[in-house]
Amino acid sequence: MNTAKRRTVIAGNWKMNFTPSEAKAFIEEIKPMVAGKDNCDIVFCAPFVSIAAAMEAAKGSNIKIGAENVHFEDHGAFTGEVSAKMLKEIGVEYVLVGHSERRQYFGETDETVNLRTKAALAAGMKVILCLGEVKEQRLSGITDEVVGMQTKLDLAGISVEDLKNVIIAYEPVWAIGTGLTATPEQAEETCAVIRRVVASLYGDDAAEAMTIQYGGSMNDKNAAELLAKTNVDGGLIGGASLVAEKFTAIVDAAQ
Ligand code: PGA
Repeated sequence: MNTAKRRTVIAGNWKMNFTPSEAKAFIEEIKPMVAGKDNCDIVFCAPFVSIAAAMEAAKGSNIKIGAENVHFEDHGAFTGEVSAKMLKEIGVEYVLVGHSERRQYFGETDETVNLRTKAALAAGMKVILCLGEVKEQRLSGITDEVVGMQTKLDLAGISVEDLKNVIIAYEPVWAIGTGLTATPEQAEETCAVIRRVVASLYGDDAAEAMTIQYGGSMNDKNAAELLAKTNVDGGLIGGASLVAEKFTAIVDAAQ
């Protein structure tokens, strides 16, 4: 983290977990545990139906509630999708876009990730844009090229002004939900690569100001080491975001 230059963001990704009542109970449990820990932004991205209950429970606290996806059209014949306008109306401030599970299981491409990012930004939301290499790509030594290309394609056409509302979450796909974590050195190296690509597109100031998170089996045990790296400005946390003690320990590591 370089807290002089950019904001640390610790975000939970609940994935397909927590019904509305479970979300409410979880937020009520963790709220006092993270109270006053203001050296980072604390966000939980919830399933659409649980957003309202989580928000209600988080009222008056330092916890923000986000969504896990957003469609790029405002309205229309897109069964099963939710628009940025809909999320905005209920007060959603953050949205995940391009999570590897969306790319892998639901056919999302850099093109749709880019469109979804633009729609969320146009609605005034902050985007946590997820990208990262798969195992074969890391083993073939092409991680830098892969994340560089994703960064360029996913940010295509986004203005330097809108970029202020983009957080990139570097999530090596081989580390997600597997218990395998990138080493702090690997996380640092690849986050630095992403920052260099952002600098080539938008200039050094914009790149230095951008929050870049690491995600992939981040937990209460490894968070401090990962967050100690200069280019790792937070975490996107799946499994450990479902357990109040573990998530709080990660928030503590960011203080
Ligand atoms: P994990 O998930 O922490 O369970 O590996 C991270 C993510 O998918 O964002």
